[in-house]
Amino acid sequence: MDTVPVTDDLPPRLRAALLTGGYALDGVRDRLGPMAGAALAREEVVPALAATDGADPLSVALRLWWLQIPVDTGAVRAAYADGLADALLDAGLLAYCGDQLRAGVRIRPWDAEGGGVGYIVSDLAARPGDAPPAADHVVGAGGASDSLARLAHREPVERALDLGTGCGVQALHLSGRAGAVDATDVNGRALELARLTFALSEVPNVRTHHGSLFEPVREQRYDLIVSNPPFVIGPAGRYTYRESGLPGDDVCRALVAGAPGHLAPDGWCHLLGNWLHVRGEDWRDRVGGWMAGTGCDGWAVQRDVQDPAEYVELWLRDSVEAGTPKYRELYEDWLGWFTRNDVEGVGFGWLTLHAAGTLDPVVRVEELTHPVAEPVGDYVTGVLAGIADAYRMGDGELLAAALRVAPGVTQEYQGPPGFTDPEAIVLRQGEGLRRARQVDTVTAALAGVCDGTLPVDPLLAAIAELTGEPADDLRTKAPEVLRSLIAEGFFIPPSLED
Ligand SMILES: C[S@@+](CC[C@H](N)C(=O)[O-])C[C@H]1O[C@@H](n2cnc3c(N)ncnc32)[C@H](O)[C@@H]1O
Repeated sequence: MDTVPVTDDLPPRLRAALLTGGYALDGVRDRLGPMAGAALAREEVVPALAATDGADPLSVALRLWWLQIPVDTGAVRAAYADGLADALLDAGLLAYCGDQLRAGVRIRPWDAEGGGVGYIVSDLAARPGDAPPAADHVVGAGGASDSLARLAHREPVERALDLGTGCGVQALHLSGRAGAVDATDVNGRALELARLTFALSEVPNVRTHHGSLFEPVREQRYDLIVSNPPFVIGPAGRYTYRESGLPGDDVCRALVAGAPGHLAPDGWCHLLGNWLHVRGEDWRDRVGGWMAGTGCDGWAVQRDVQDPAEYVELWLRDSVEAGTPKYRELYEDWLGWFTRNDVEGVGFGWLTLHAAGTLDPVVRVEELTHPVAEPVGDYVTGVLAGIADAYRMGDGELLAAALRVAPGVTQEYQGPPGFTDPEAIVLRQGEGLRRARQVDTVTAALAGVCDGTLPVDPLLAAIAELTGEPADDLRTKAPEVLRSLIAEGFFIPPSLED
């Protein structure tokens, strides 16, 4: 499908027909059941075929718009009556396939955050055996889209920006809690499909802008910026949806550098990214270097790291080029680029910036590969506040603070089966980032008594009496340990109490 010359009345008519046919996530789940539903989430359509072999409107919608299977023309005309099927054909949203009809785009239902049904429009998914996607392919919402949507903070905002909107999924998420959303993309086709997403979802507060990175919103500032950018790193920008054409990981570096100039006071920016692990360089220095000097508090989290071969395989599978005649050449070319550039791995993760307006911004870069409580957006502002407050508290302030152990923290004694003396004491978070941290006996004792009523200093004096350790030694050592435990969310200082 080259263009989508959609008339204004088409989206509401199509929406009405889809809703009447029960094409919403609940209806799809009920119809498919857990096994076929889970298979479809993996882009495996075969189990869903048996559940959609009727001529009813839900079977028609599922086969056309999600499974990408041609459907009997009569059944489509019955489901999209009163000239709607012809209007969809005129718009290129349907096309003939022999004597059947097939979809020109993918339309998947979406649960709006405040209730209600939305629809996400993208290009048809490329599956193994299909031709590779076109250079301007518009990808549908996937795992990375979900990850960014869960990372972004949930507070209501006036103005939000979705940079690289693609099918429009992030803007759709933001539309429910932002007064106005700007959605940008360098791919004009993506903007056409995104506009269809917004119209079909009856979202009135998103405006689309064409152009690269921050260029289309040059003068604008936002309370919230999100981007799931084309972060894939390789020798060539072959697909706009995943590769920026900038060298290496420069697109993420450029976004981090550009975002602060578009953040309103107290504004937030959440990005997904890939970064290079280059021989002889610590990746933390690389990503921390992007964030340092932005004037914002920053938090970078590496969620995963792949070696170059795993990375190339992942993305050649993504573009259904695995197993094709060009596979080996593409693989060698891509791997050769990593080798020539001394790349040992590629990290994937989250980049968050907060325009806190302080003169001493704090940047924390870390690796968290374990499952965390979702959505992170429910508590991400508290994570950055903990990091920043801990860093800014002086030793005396820490000793004078009535700290409280965070809710959900438990203590574990570890040792071999039957142990009498523990080899290690571990504090573990049952909530939030679910960190675990080995602590010494003094810190464990503090955790046992820090309930927000007494300052640390007299508590340390009492612990010193019990353990026989000199109180001054404990006072000297405690601030550094407490600072990192506050930064990691095990202890809450009074400044962060609600
Ligand atoms: C990985 S897709 C993300 C789509 C969607 N926002 C999501 O979360 O699923 C990246 C998007 O960035 C767009 N893009 C690529 N290069 C860009 C650039 N230089 N400036 C703005 N957008 C760009 C692509 O066209 C694509 O729509």
